[in-house]
Amino acid sequence: MRTTNYNRKFSAFASGVVDRFSQRPALNPVPESARLDGKVCLVTGANRGLGRAVAVDLAKRGGHVLMACRGGHPDAGVEVGRLAGSDTVDMLHVDLADLDSVHALCDQLERDGRQVDILVLNAGVMPAKARRSAQGYELMFAVHFLANRVLVDRLLSDGTMRPAGHGDEIPRIVFIVSETHRAADSIDFRNFGAFTDYGLKDGLKYYALSKLHLCTYAQELSRRLNPEGEVRIAVNSLCPGAVDSDLMREAPWFLKPLLYPAKRLLFAAPHKAAASVTYACCAEDMGRRSGVYLHLLREKEMSAPAMDLSAGARLWEASEALLARSGEPQ
Ligand SMILES: NC(=O)c1ccc[n+]([C@@H]2O[C@H](COP(=O)([O-])OP(=O)(O)OC[C@H]3O[C@@H](n4cnc5c(N)ncnc54)[C@H](OP(=O)(O)O)[C@@H]3O)[C@@H](O)[C@H]2O)c1
Repeated sequence: MRTTNYNRKFSAFASGVVDRFSQRPALNPVPESARLDGKVCLVTGANRGLGRAVAVDLAKRGGHVLMACRGGHPDAGVEVGRLAGSDTVDMLHVDLADLDSVHALCDQLERDGRQVDILVLNAGVMPAKARRSAQGYELMFAVHFLANRVLVDRLLSDGTMRPAGHGDEIPRIVFIVSETHRAADSIDFRNFGAFTDYGLKDGLKYYALSKLHLCTYAQELSRRLNPEGEVRIAVNSLCPGAVDSDLMREAPWFLKPLLYPAKRLLFAAPHKAAASVTYACCAEDMGRRSGVYLHLLREKEMSAPAMDLSAGARLWEASEALLARSGEPQ
């Protein structure tokens, strides 16, 4: 059992490294000429790291970018607008670790009559040890999975995102997941949503598990939104590879002198790592397909547990029940 877990962690890491340095042909990055004029793009966690680079790129292509952020108000929005040469960048507030804040964001979008064409669920966190969200859930379970589940539900039920009718442009939902989801065994439905206390040693294990929840949910959402195989909302996921971002900012001080130079040397700069996100947002074929998973610019299968149909259905029902128990509107 222990060996299997180590093997899984190793294979998740190895697949990341192999894809990063592989010479196998990959998809071609979307050319700068691909435009998003008039399209409304909502990006979560857009004030730094990968999300900020994505916001700049989408704004440069003419997208009206809504940066849904916890921090960086208003400076990050001003800076993204300046870098992109765009005056259609807006900052919205959301703390994904608080479901009330997710609802407040959705209320605001509904009140303003916004129609979102492209939703990039990017925000992520890697705490040094277990912490609780406002509603008492483990932080990564709450931010990576539960908040996105509530956000997508609300955007669809409010009509802020609508399935395409015949001949309409197909809206896109893009999940930023991680190859580390392969290191997670399976979802523990017996203790679903229960808070687990963990320290530094097990942080990556729970990060991987939260990304497995997110991958499984993305696949189930894709199936539910496009039941007959006809794509009405393109739901696709990707791992951007290792990014030189601030994700590991809570790493212990004694690791930072090693970690930071290694990160700078081996990890991709955010604007380079954004290529796969741009692909999912702009490439023509990704607007006609759903359930696709990219690692960097390579199409792959998610892990078997993430693709499991019964796990997807169970996750949907378990999270619906969990939200109903905590008084969340369904
Ligand atoms: N870095 C990597 O090597 C790597 C590899 C694979 C996948 N990813 C994924 O890529 C995504 C982007 O991460 P990154 O590498 O760019 O990390 P980052 O630089 O730390 O950026 C994370 C973003 O998420 C936001 N965020 C965190 N908690 C939030 C909350 N409760 N509410 C609202 N926003 C919140 C942060 O906001 P604040 O500035 O307010 O904290 C920040 O804008 C994540 O989903 C991550 O899991 C990263």
